Amino acid sequence: RIAGPCVLVIFGVTGDLSRKKLMPAVYDLANRGLLPPGFALVGFARRDWENQDFAKVVHDAVKEHARTPFREEVWEQLLEGIRFVSGAFDDDAAFERLGDTIRELDTTRGTGGNHAFYLSIPPSGFEPVMTMLRKHGLTEGGEDNWNRVVIEKPFGHDLASARELDAVVSSLFQPHEVFRIDHYLGKETVQNMLALRFANQMFEPIWNNHYVSHVEITMAEDIGIGGRAGYFDGIGIARDVMQNHLLQLLALTAMEEPTSFEASQLRTEKKKVLAAARVPERYDLHTARGQYAAGWQGGKPVIGYLQEDGVPEGSGTETYAAIRVDVDNRRWAGVPFYLRTAKRMPRRVTEVALSFKRAPHLPFTATDTEELGTNALVMRIQPDEGVTLRFGAKVPGTQMEIREVSMDFGYGGSFTESSPEAYERLILDVLLGDPPLFPQQEEVELSWKILDPVIAYWASLDEQPEQYESGTWGPQSGHDMLARDGFSWRRP
Ligand code: BG6
Repeated sequence: RIAGPCVLVIFGVTGDLSRKKLMPAVYDLANRGLLPPGFALVGFARRDWENQDFAKVVHDAVKEHARTPFREEVWEQLLEGIRFVSGAFDDDAAFERLGDTIRELDTTRGTGGNHAFYLSIPPSGFEPVMTMLRKHGLTEGGEDNWNRVVIEKPFGHDLASARELDAVVSSLFQPHEVFRIDHYLGKETVQNMLALRFANQMFEPIWNNHYVSHVEITMAEDIGIGGRAGYFDGIGIARDVMQNHLLQLLALTAMEEPTSFEASQLRTEKKKVLAAARVPERYDLHTARGQYAAGWQGGKPVIGYLQEDGVPEGSGTETYAAIRVDVDNRRWAGVPFYLRTAKRMPRRVTEVALSFKRAPHLPFTATDTEELGTNALVMRIQPDEGVTLRFGAKVPGTQMEIREVSMDFGYGGSFTESSPEAYERLILDVLLGDPPLFPQQEEVELSWKILDPVIAYWASLDEQPEQYESGTWGPQSGHDMLARDGFSWRRP
């Protein structure tokens, strides 16, 4: 799977995402031999840079963040196709220059008239950029070439704005030309969830409400918001990652087997789950939110959210969110899915854990653990990527004492191949025009429909989210939410 000739134009090339993820991913693809000689990278931003200034930025980003070793010959080859266009999103002359640059590359570099426009910019920039692309004929193609647009979340901040954004994007691009990035879908371990479920016989028979008692989907980060107050404040963690990453993980966990892994089949199954999913009413009982206060992380004192640079005084933005989701279908009725995500937790971990119902009869007397007879299957998305099965085993000795043990599969120990970074995989798929790993507008809308009422409820409370000490597993209300249902959060 090697990409064909094309130009990748990145808008917002001075941003963090571009430096930490996109540019290194492009280099890694080149280094793995997955980009053709006729590939070019064009950066577009307001900075007053020349090509060589931008090339230096790419070079430094690659040196610092690329996964694969730096090889001079790969870099030299990439460098010849690097260009920069300086300008604002409403600057006609700049888009004229962008057009000239692309046409020049199409002929001299052999990029073949194929163009991907990557919008690594805030949603407010979508409309002006789209208007300019249209006005300057940058998306007009022939039969044998393609134009695609790549958009990054947030796909709006609620259902209505998501629809407005889509109207802008779809005024210029056909649905099959739009690639929405949810980088979790590019993660190897997320794709492995599909392999685990559908490439094996032993899991599927127990993957339902006859055997599963509840599911926990956790995305915990140990970091705070760092320098991202401008983006994060007012948005909050539910919109930032629950609307996309966590609900996509839920969809992959709960969906039926698709007839194939073709995009339309996969999306059909994900959409059915999202359409059946809802947060049970009584949001006071089934949701929780919090905001990190000062505390300790890795043995060092850290400041609270309200003390972070750029956070307005008294900000009510949540950095912890937990919700219960019920999936109203035959397979899952009665099985709560608990989703939680937060900044400044004790460790960085993302996992999907299925807890199974207790064995109906236990012929043991000595039980020193309440968990006896319950099993869990944990899909570890990151770090320590792998799968763990928890079950009871006899403790050696004369007593019939049972204790929980783990059976582990780890990617590191089982495979010598290294995993590509999520962005690497996704950028390659864009250039190949391969859509299964990109959510469709309908999925985006269904996800907002699940979250909108919860976010509106939180806003209606008109009070500060509950504070939790940095470096802990979140606010008391989050623990209470599960305790009411007779469960407690795993401590991964
Ligand atoms: C992004 C969020 O989508 O995911 C960030 O905007 C978050 O707030 C990041 O830190 C986490 O990604 P990963 O791949 O490190 O789990």
